Amino acid sequence: ESRRKIKVLGKDYAVDGWTNATEAILSKTGSNLINIPSHPLSIVKEQIYKSFPNFAYYEKIDPVVSTFDNFESLCFPKDHPGRSKTDTYYINQDMLLRTHSSAHQMEILKAGSQINGLNNEPRSKHLLGLARNLEASLNNERFLVAADVYRRDEIDASHYPVFHQMEGVATFDRKRLAEEAKESENIRNGIIKRENESKASGGGGNKLEVVTEDDTQISKDNPIQGEHSPEEVQILIKDMKESMNIMVASVLGMGSTITAENSRNSKNASSSGPQKLPVRWIEAYFPFTSPSWEMEVWFQGKWLEICGCGIVQQSIMERSGRPDRVGWAFGFGLERLAMILFGIPDIRLFWSKDPRFLDQFQPGKISTFKSFSRHPACTKDVSFWLPSDAQFHENDFMDTVREIAGDLAEDVKLIDKFKHPKTGKTSHCYRINYCSMDRNVTNEEINKIQNELRQVVTDKFGVELR
Ligand code: PHE
Repeated sequence: ESRRKIKVLGKDYAVDGWTNATEAILSKTGSNLINIPSHPLSIVKEQIYKSFPNFAYYEKIDPVVSTFDNFESLCFPKDHPGRSKTDTYYINQDMLLRTHSSAHQMEILKAGSQINGLNNEPRSKHLLGLARNLEASLNNERFLVAADVYRRDEIDASHYPVFHQMEGVATFDRKRLAEEAKESENIRNGIIKRENESKASGGGGNKLEVVTEDDTQISKDNPIQGEHSPEEVQILIKDMKESMNIMVASVLGMGSTITAENSRNSKNASSSGPQKLPVRWIEAYFPFTSPSWEMEVWFQGKWLEICGCGIVQQSIMERSGRPDRVGWAFGFGLERLAMILFGIPDIRLFWSKDPRFLDQFQPGKISTFKSFSRHPACTKDVSFWLPSDAQFHENDFMDTVREIAGDLAEDVKLIDKFKHPKTGKTSHCYRINYCSMDRNVTNEEINKIQNELRQVVTDKFGVELR
């Protein structure tokens, strides 16, 4: 087996005992949804860029990264649960499908130090070749990374094993921090002015004004790093929060009918002036930032968690060859906001090749998704006794379903769990909803898939079918 190889985006990788990336998942790499100009994810991405005119943009970095880039470079401890095979798609023991856009923080920071003559790794040169807007970014001192990311997960309308994130990183010269923060504030003021003018002159969308309900907490569980001074961190936090506020108001403000509902539901409803967009910052933990928060927005009647963020661990700056700088970072999920903005009810639709989906959207515009007739679903159950010795992990089952049924598996639920009082054996019953986005499925075809699934789970997991 050790001599077997798999090809991902034109490159060969050795296969080993860690390999768990299935054909079904590998076939999603290179889809480049964020580079199709009329695709909803790309429309959101481009709108985010508008809030960061002085950043470099990276959007074509290979999703296969080293475990170092995905974890070690970001200070993940060896035993962090995110590293487990049940959560992550490994290509082999050294390489994996990135689980987040943060995987590129260190190499891009290093690429920046290359411009400044501080290192000459060939990988950095390659990355710089992928950047857009490099000049305006003060040579890579600020950057965004749009990326498809991969996580093993359950199957339903809001979970898909591939989704998209936008990473944002801004770094500042420690000696010029206050001045550089002032410059970035001036840039933000320019953006707000331009957006307001375009909306006032009927440029579409809604004017939204962020109101922050809670202030960012800094506590002993969410501390300032020993290397940083409180003054330094306060300046960074302010710059980070204001940058993120502008981004979120700008993206959500693109929708007109949808955001109009927010004021009705909002606790801060007012009858005149710009609509209020409540934002709050919840203390969070990430190995690579401290302090850290989740940004939540009050939207259509509930708090939505849309973004993790925080102050970059100074050890990352040091290991990237930039001890002279400090920075903040965020990671923003694109699907969740796109689903709300465009009224897209099922995350699988982003992957649809049906023109009835794709032809509905235009670059730079939000339109409400009109559902085309839903094709009938077909439901099948499978029940089995778990093997008494080996462990059975649900995500392994989920991936097997995806491997065999592909996107036809719309939803998989554990509907019954039973422990036999005498034998002590456990039985699981899963209900699988089969449905196609673009055609009718026949009972015959689904029976074939279901039979294959029954066979494969028996062979693979040693379960005993009931
Ligand atoms: N990478 C984190 C995630 O995927 C988000 C994050 C990015 C948090 C940058 C902090 C800073 O959950």
